[in-house]
Parts: sequence; structure tokens; C-alpha cells
Amino acid sequence: MNSIFTRRSVRNYQDKPVETEKIEQMLKAAMQAPSAGNQRPWEFIVVNDKDLLQKLSLLSPFAGPIQRAALAIVMLANRDNMKYPENWQMDLSAATQNLLIEAVELGLGAVWLGVAPLEDRMEYIKQLLDLPNNILPFAVVPVGYPATENRFIDRYEHAKVHHDKYY
Ligand SMILES: Cc1cc2nc3c(=O)[nH]c(=O)nc-3n(C[C@H](O)[C@H](O)[C@H](O)COP(=O)(O)O)c2cc1C
Repeated sequence: MNSIFTRRSVRNYQDKPVETEKIEQMLKAAMQAPSAGNQRPWEFIVVNDKDLLQKLSLLSPFAGPIQRAALAIVMLANRDNMKYPENWQMDLSAATQNLLIEAVELGLGAVWLGVAPLEDRMEYIKQLLDLPNNILPFAVVPVGYPATENRFIDRYEHAKVHHDKYY
């Protein structure tokens, strides 16, 4: 699948809105992800408000792309929908990766900005977006039309592949 190989973290965007259908398509891709026991603990907040985007970008020293993006998707998990709570971050990781790859398919650029398990970042988002106690923030994904074209970088490392036994 070409989009897996051309996906890169995109942190600079054109000043151009993203179509509603494309946002919905990314969310559909996220919700197609595998999850432990098919628990699908994910929920999402699509942030378009410029003032909120600016405040979200203060989440960490590495969250600057949010203030340049057309929108940001906040990846959340609902504690009430967890049969296997120990797996929620893995479920959300699969959903986030699906969303990032779908963004490439749609000609968009995005980047995974880490939130969980860092308590201070989780608390910042909880306060800013009025999350109830059962809703856990996982990551923020700013999205927009990329300012530059993605470049393929070959990361295949033969030495990391083992056959039958480790040695
Ligand atoms: C769990 C996780 C957290 C990340 N957090 C940030 C972040 O806070 N800020 C950022 O600019 N990039 C973040 N990234 C993106 C990585 O820096 C990026 O994926 C990595 O450098 C590889 O580059 P590529 O995505 O272009 O292949 C994060 C990625 C992951 C998987």
C-alpha cells in the first residue's frame, strides 16, 4: 500500500480548509481499526475553532503544528467502553495510525502529537476541552493540506529481521 510508504509527519500546512467529507473519511478509517475484544473505546473531538487550536498548540513544546493546521482531531477513549482497560492505548494507537494513513490517501498531511500517558498533557486537554472524568485524551492529530510534498525515506533494516530463532 503506497500510502504507508509515503506517509510522513506533516507539520506545515497550506492556508486552505479541509472538506467535511474528507474529515469524515479519516474518522471512518480510524474507527475501522482493530481493538482488544472489539471494544472500540475511541471517541473524537474535531477542533476547528482558531482560538481553541491556538490554545491546544500550547499542550507541549512539540505541539506547534496545531496552530498552523486547518483543524485538529483529538483522539479520546471512553473508560465506560473498555472491557479490557489495559489495552486502551494500543487500541487508540491503531486508530491513530489508520487515520494518518487515510489522510495521505486523501492528499492531506497530519502528525501524531503524543498526549497519553503523560499526566500533565492529559490534564491540559481535559481542562481545555471540558472532558468528563470517564474520557481520556490519547493524542492530537493536526490536519491540513501539506505545504510541501512528502518524501519517501527507506527505513527497512535487514538486521532487525530474524528467522525461526533470535540468533
Ligand atoms: C507516540 C508518538 C508521539 C509523537 N509525538 C510527537 C510530538 O509531540 N510532536 C511532533 O512533532 N511529532 C510527534 N510524533 C511524530 C514523530 O516525531 C514522527 O513520527 C517520527 O519522527 C518519524 O517521522 P515520520 O512520521 O515523518 O515518519 C509522535 C509520534 C508518535 C508515534
